[in-house]
Amino acid sequence: MEYVALSRSEHEPESQPALKIRPIAFGDADSYRSILERTSEEDRYCRFFHVVNHFDLSDIRRFVEPRLDTIGLIAEEDGVPYGVAHAFFLSDHSAEIAIVVAGDVRRHGVGHALLERLLGELRSRQFTEVIAMALSVNSSFAHLAASVGMTPSGPLDGMTTWTLSVPVEA
Ligand SMILES: CC(C)(COP(=O)(O)OP(=O)(O)OC[C@H]1O[C@@H](n2cnc3c(N)ncnc32)[C@H](O)[C@@H]1OP(=O)(O)O)[C@@H](O)C(=O)NCCC(=O)NCCS
Repeated sequence: MEYVALSRSEHEPESQPALKIRPIAFGDADSYRSILERTSEEDRYCRFFHVVNHFDLSDIRRFVEPRLDTIGLIAEEDGVPYGVAHAFFLSDHSAEIAIVVAGDVRRHGVGHALLERLLGELRSRQFTEVIAMALSVNSSFAHLAASVGMTPSGPLDGMTTWTLSVPVEA
């Protein structure tokens, strides 16, 4: 298990529980639903590129079940789910990533911690190219993507493609 410290303000006590990031599992369906329920319709459009207002188990299943062509990670603190990030394999060396963080814990470094961990997982599996699609108006993701070294291309039809070339581990 890996623990990642949240970036806290000076006023928060150091004894607060740390952010934990681990592979998502089928038993996390309720946690995943909870994260989506704590987002706005606009947030979910930013993540899925269509309107998502119902969270059926059949829709949730593909994002929580273990798959050979996907890495799924969940971030939680003291048992409270904060966010999820996925890498969907496009080939044996390239993957598309997607991420969503609950609205009540934004801008505390959860997205950054999830993305860094996801990139580490991809790097250890010898992936060399990571892409992400985002609405060009999505400034939150733009900040996050840039903070991990991704570079934008486009926009095309309102979408920006973010790319990162991952150095192969020696
Ligand atoms: C994009 C998203 C995942 C960011 O999650 P987060 O937990 O708030 O991100 P972080 O707190 O780790 O922020 C990462 C960086 O972006 C910056 N940032 C985040 N939101 C920002 C905003 N609205 N304006 C300016 N900067 C912002 C942070 O300051 C931080 O920069 P730093 O590392 O230089 O300090 C979150 O906004 C989200 O879930 N959006 C809806 C879904 C979505 O858009 N997914 C992306 C497409 S798949």
